[in-house]
Amino acid sequence: MEKPVLRPFDLGTGPLMPDAFIMETGKVDLSVYTSQERFEAEREIFGRVWLNIAESSEIPNAGDWIVRDVKVRSSSIILVRGKDMVIRAFHNICAHRGMKLVWDDKGRGGKFSCPYHAWMFDSVGALLHIPDEGCFPHVDKQASGLTPVRCDTWEGMIFVNLDMQGTQSLADYLGPVTERLKGVPFASYPYTARVGSLINANWKLAIEAQCEAYHVRALHARTVSKMLSSTDNPFVHPLHTEFLGAHRMNSVPRNPDYELSPEKLVQAFSFMNAQQMVIADTGAQDKPEETFAGHSDVNPIRSNLWGNDQYVLYPHFIFHLSLGGWWLHRFWPIASDKCYWEAVYHFEQPQSLRNQFAVQYSLALNRDTLMEDNLALVQQQEVMESGAKKIVQFGEQEALCKHLAAVSEAAANDAQALRIAAE
Ligand code: FES
Ligand SMILES: [Fe+2]
Repeated sequence: MEKPVLRPFDLGTGPLMPDAFIMETGKVDLSVYTSQERFEAEREIFGRVWLNIAESSEIPNAGDWIVRDVKVRSSSIILVRGKDMVIRAFHNICAHRGMKLVWDDKGRGGKFSCPYHAWMFDSVGALLHIPDEGCFPHVDKQASGLTPVRCDTWEGMIFVNLDMQGTQSLADYLGPVTERLKGVPFASYPYTARVGSLINANWKLAIEAQCEAYHVRALHARTVSKMLSSTDNPFVHPLHTEFLGAHRMNSVPRNPDYELSPEKLVQAFSFMNAQQMVIADTGAQDKPEETFAGHSDVNPIRSNLWGNDQYVLYPHFIFHLSLGGWWLHRFWPIASDKCYWEAVYHFEQPQSLRNQFAVQYSLALNRDTLMEDNLALVQQQEVMESGAKKIVQFGEQEALCKHLAAVSEAAANDAQALRIAAE
């Protein structure tokens, strides 16, 4: 396999290089998962980089809104589509006395009335109405709207940036990722399902578990191991890896010899009735352009063993493109030993009851697999706190983890240097 080229990246503070020692050796100081100092640097970074937070299909009509939390920044964000169909983001806090303005997580109508004293705001953040307004002679209504958050979209994915002083555009932040995936048909897979949970582990451990398939044979022996691990590629080495500035991708293989088990009739029925997320092989390699398999940027080396392409965007966002649909993960830091993980699965619209059943089966299989990951992470965090080991060691087949750690290290050092310079 060709060695991926390492490139500089820019998180809005000037060009940085991924940490050279980590890239060379795969050794990472274990304290990055446990120390409060590192967590503070990451808190600072989450306050100024572009964060994927939602999808534009969640608020399709004028006036539709959703609320999402960025707990590491103690922030709640309202995302609302205006009458002009533009999606805007605002801090979910009232201009009167700082009450959380919206307590539900979604709604329609584009108007927000504060539960405390009923000040009212609209979809462009303007303050519309103050009950008993005569008692507020010092309020400048024009200047008392909602506090805006920078917001932009790419391919139907909504990103926010909490730094209103920041100047880096989303396109610049995503850089080579947007060049690679022009016109990829995300919208062809409109049927969605969402899962999520709190995990008592560092958010980077949770990301890493989704960034390498080395663990599949051991940790997923009871679920998906046989679908991925093959005679020729027993440790599920990636087919192809690219470093894309602060981001990265690889093509994940499948087991071409995987056979449906006659003992697992429900599974066999399901696999025959819908494209599955994991095995992704029902002879559909020559599918048309509006599917992922037909797009030239997907499966870039055109491998017959291809299962899915995985993109890991700094800091906290992963998406996979497969024959059967696509899915995403977001990992939200809460404390150095706690994070919130959410995943959204996208399938083609089911055309029949059998198809619907098969999709649900696929979801359940994915959920079970992810639970194996998430339960392991808690065990990992618990013993990491002991201080008995000083480093973690990534192998060559864990290249995405290594690159992510090297970018994180450079970004954390940069954040620390900026903080010291500002003091
Ligand atoms: S705090 Fe919102 S109306 Fe009073
Ligand atoms: Fe896993």
